Order: sequence, then C-alpha cells, then structure tokens
Amino acid sequence: MERKRPNRMFLHTKITSSTNDDIKKMIYSDFDCAAVLCADSQSGGRGRLGRSFLSPDGGIYFSAAYPLSGQEKNIAFLTLAAGLAVAETLEESASDTVADSIRIKWPNDIYINGKKVCGILTELCSLGGHLSAAVGIGINSKTLGDTCPDELKDKITTLFDEGIFPSRDKLIRDVIKKLDRLVYSQNVLDEVPDDVTASLNSRSYIYGKEIMFFDGDIKKCGTASFVERDGSLRVLTADGTAFVKFGEVTEIIRPKNT
Ligand code: BTN
Repeated sequence: MERKRPNRMFLHTKITSSTNDDIKKMIYSDFDCAAVLCADSQSGGRGRLGRSFLSPDGGIYFSAAYPLSGQEKNIAFLTLAAGLAVAETLEESASDTVADSIRIKWPNDIYINGKKVCGILTELCSLGGHLSAAVGIGINSKTLGDTCPDELKDKITTLFDEGIFPSRDKLIRDVIKKLDRLVYSQNVLDEVPDDVTASLNSRSYIYGKEIMFFDGDIKKCGTASFVERDGSLRVLTADGTAFVKFGEVTEIIRPKNT
C-alpha cells in the first residue's frame, strides 16, 4: 500500500498524563492525525505489559500516529523501526565508543553500555473500520540522581550520564524523520528491506545471549539469534528453532563461578 507521508506538526507541553493517551484521543478525532506530541514530564507514563514508565522532568517523551490499512504484513515491525530510528539518532550525537555501545533490545528498548535509556510503546487504535498505531517513545535524558528508585539504579541510564547532550527538539524531529522514512519510503510495514534487518541485527543487545521467553504459557530458554523480516526473534533452543513474535525476552544472568 502506498502511504501518504504526513506533514508533521510538533506540539509541546510541560506536563501531561501520557503522550500516548493524548495522541490516541487525537487519532480518534482524526485518523490522519499528523501531530507529534511532546512533553517534559508525564504523571501517568505507561510502558508495555501494563507497567508504568518513570517520566520525571528532564526526560524526552513523545508520541506520533501512524495510520494503517490493516493489510500490512508487518505491523509488529513498527516498534523495531522506531527503535532503529532512536538508535541511529543517538549515535549521531555520541562519541565513537558510546555509539558502539548503543543497542536495541528486542522488541522495544534501547540500551547504552548495558543499561536501558529508552522504551517504546506501540498501541493500536481502531474505530469504524479505521486503524492507526500510536507510537510512544520515552528517553531518559538528564541525570536522575535521587529521583531514580534504588531498584532501577543499576538498570537504567540517561543520555547525560553517557555524555550525550542533544538538543531535545532536534532529537525528536530526527527520530520522527527517520521513522517516517522507514514507514513511508522504505515501506517496512509491508516488506522489510534486507539492509533494515541488517541494521537492526548489527545493533542487537541480546544476540548470542541466553534468554528466557514464553511460548504461549510455557517458559522456555534458548540463545537469542537474529530478528527476522516479520519482526519476530529467532531463538535457538534445545528442541530446535523458535520464533518469538509477542511479549518480551529476559536475559539470563548466571552467577560467575568463583
Ligand atoms: C516500556 O519501556 O515498556 C515502554 C515505555 C514507553 C514510554 C513512552 S513515553 C511517551 C509515551 N507515553 C507513554 O505513556 N508511554 C510512551
């Protein structure tokens, strides 16, 4: 399907509950909504699987709408395309060493130096035969200090902590420009070009790592391999090859032998 590239309009607010909730409201009144909604903080930031997303002042939170036909072969690729757009944008303002450590953890997180810096939430909206996706991106930007809960201190990082000091507005525009190019010019929702899967796989956080995943209700373990063209993750298990399409995967960290 030929999609019409929207003429984006960037709207900024200091605080909102969730930019994803806001864009969903706009989508329901205009399915061709071209707005990108950005906020300095969110009081009800949401993550995947019903989790909350810590969104204090000093982060970068934004959401954009992508109208769909419903005939796309790879809607699941939207989140991965957004991750690739974020990773490539951050690389442009990072030192070579930091840029080398920017990784995409299938399906929706960006890591720097082994710690999460960004999460992506894609939600589908459907009304009266119209379908659209709300893509929300949250990036930890300024150092969190005391506002970071103890249990997250070893798990998350910020752009400032990694020596990346981008202009917020330019970063948002660059991410959306790259994501729009992937969706509207490279048509990744219908057919993912080989160079796009190669770009994703070369930045994989979990490739070659031992991971845990769910096959239906059954917990399984295996070694993470490549992301496929349909957006699924290939995992090598003791029983053969599995393709994880939904949910998320957890890295298994084994205690080192002393
Ligand atoms: C995750 O880590 O599970 C995904 C987090 C997605 C957070 C972004 S911030 C902008 C948008 N608004 C939200 O409420 N969530 C997304």
